[in-house]
Amino acid sequence: MTDTIPRTLVDSWGRTHNNLRISVTDRCNIRCFYCMPAEDVQFLPRQELLTFEEIERVVRIGVTLGINKVRLTGGEPLVRRDLPVLVQKLASVPGIIDIGLTTNGILLAEQARSLRDAGLKRLNISLDALDPEVFRKVTRRDGYEKVIEGIAAAREAGFSPIKLNAVSVRGLTEDQIVPFGQLARESDTIVRFIEFMPLDADSQWQREKVLFASEILDRLTSAFGPLRPIVTDLNDARPTFTDQSTSSHAEAESHTPLLPLARASRAPAQDFEFVDGRGRIGLIASVSQPFCATCNRFRLTADGKLRNCLFSLEETDIRPLLRSAAKDEEIAQAMLDNIAAKREGHEINTARFLQPDRPMYSIGG
Ligand code: 5AD
Ligand code: SF4
Repeated sequence: MTDTIPRTLVDSWGRTHNNLRISVTDRCNIRCFYCMPAEDVQFLPRQELLTFEEIERVVRIGVTLGINKVRLTGGEPLVRRDLPVLVQKLASVPGIIDIGLTTNGILLAEQARSLRDAGLKRLNISLDALDPEVFRKVTRRDGYEKVIEGIAAAREAGFSPIKLNAVSVRGLTEDQIVPFGQLARESDTIVRFIEFMPLDADSQWQREKVLFASEILDRLTSAFGPLRPIVTDLNDARPTFTDQSTSSHAEAESHTPLLPLARASRAPAQDFEFVDGRGRIGLIASVSQPFCATCNRFRLTADGKLRNCLFSLEETDIRPLLRSAAKDEEIAQAMLDNIAAKREGHEINTARFLQPDRPMYSIGG
């Protein structure tokens, strides 16, 4: 009897996975302290990186199991030569409805147009500070001007809205919050503040360094007035939704805990708009409000390992399958097994938490 039951990437907690994040390189042209060591980084030898053809094959097989969205990450994905060629290949895989890219923006001025032409739909640019000095402290490299040029080029190439990812770190980025809020109110830029997670290479993470989403919200509310949550991704929308538009400015000033977070979507960011209609921001409260319960994503590292969670301690190496005579079916089974073994959540907030051996740059953000 043949198996006619459609198979999906569902884990033992009932979460289906339609979203694959693909790291295309572990190399990077800057050295953000929350992701990379300062010096002497050991990068993967080139032959260990999956080829574009291998990545495309994984995506085609993934589509048969329900994958319909992919996002390219790194390291810094734009340092991988000919990236638009990969974008074009993935954009033409039937069943893929969305391709995104997360970049630090340094090489974007050169590549924004060709990425757009290749079929890239969504772009997230990492920028943790609008102050060049703070940018330098975080990245330990120059490049602020290049990122600003890259953002302008992305806008010109037609990416809209532009989404900025700003990792928020206590003692370092507090003063960036209001300027970012201002930027969000003045342009079609959505700034997404991300809580600092324990994925750095030098084990500098401490809970005390996490600038909580609730505090970010408080600062924005104090400066610009109240915000209300919005559903950002109608494809992923869930019925539960709590409107906070009634919370007054004064209440918010007295340190509102992060609002209800009956989550409006399966995306990690809870997006908000200012109630006066000017500007949108997002909060990715990975530490203070983990979103594991609605997680729909898994990862393929640049060297061909499947990871069902950013914080996985185990991974599934599919490169040997891709480089042998393995059939698609075997690779599909490896994906199904990887997802089936997914843990309930990351446990950052428990004593059981163990930081994975791989820091962010080698996992893919
Ligand atoms: N904590 C939070 N966010 C991180 N990123 C990288 N490392 C960390 C970390 N330790 C972010 C990057 C990028 C995205 C892929 O993940 O800034 O925007
Ligand atoms: Fe998903 Fe793991 Fe992130 Fe939780 S920590 S949202 S399970 S990838």
